[in-house]
Amino acid sequence: MTNSLNISAPLPPEPNSSPVFRKTVRRQDAAAVETLVRLTGVFNAAEIAIARELVEEHLDKGAIASGYHFLFADGPSGLDGYVCFGPMVATAARFELYWIAVDPGGHRAGLGRKLQKAAEDGARELGAAYLIAETSTRPDYEPARNFYRSLGYQHLGDIPYWYADDDGLCVFGMRL
Ligand SMILES: CC(C)(COP(=O)(O)OP(=O)(O)OC[C@H]1O[C@@H](n2cnc3c(N)ncnc32)[C@H](O)[C@@H]1OP(=O)(O)O)[C@@H](O)C(=O)NCCC(=O)NCCS
Repeated sequence: MTNSLNISAPLPPEPNSSPVFRKTVRRQDAAAVETLVRLTGVFNAAEIAIARELVEEHLDKGAIASGYHFLFADGPSGLDGYVCFGPMVATAARFELYWIAVDPGGHRAGLGRKLQKAAEDGARELGAAYLIAETSTRPDYEPARNFYRSLGYQHLGDIPYWYADDDGLCVFGMRL
């Protein structure tokens, strides 16, 4: 008599298993990052240029010398999202989340959360003790502020007039 339970059947995939993001930076990522951050609609021209420069600095100097570590989520037609983080010099293992962006067509589908968690793991592996995420106090950054709150980040404080008269600095932190 056979057992009706097939114990050799493969297990279904874990529903919340994390994807493996690409760490290697390619030359074409500079343009892809520029396009992606522009598409989000929240960054000004100078910020978009800086996002691209961080990629180029990594390409020129490497991850350790530049201090810029990347994780890329590749999609069928380009980048679906990316995150950039690295150590803050002359601090006791404080790391900064320099940039995170997800293609607006894929917002609220959980990619940002996965990238952020992967960046935390990556920073931890590099010896980070604490991760700082800076954003803006402007109303159009409320999704970003809510994003950090929802991931368990502590709101450390705001500094008015930081970026402009109507644009303050908003700082979040997470002990790793
Ligand atoms: C912030 C950002 C990276 C989030 O990416 P995402 O893939 O949409 O985020 P997720 O789907 O993983 O959302 C995780 C949680 O964040 C919060 N959140 C994300 N977007 C939100 C929004 N528009 N409004 C309110 N809460 C939001 C929610 O709590 C969400 O969980 P839920 O969907 O289960 O409610 C994305 O909105 C983005 O690229 N914004 C522009 C760039 C930016 O502001 N970067 C951060 C500051 S530098």
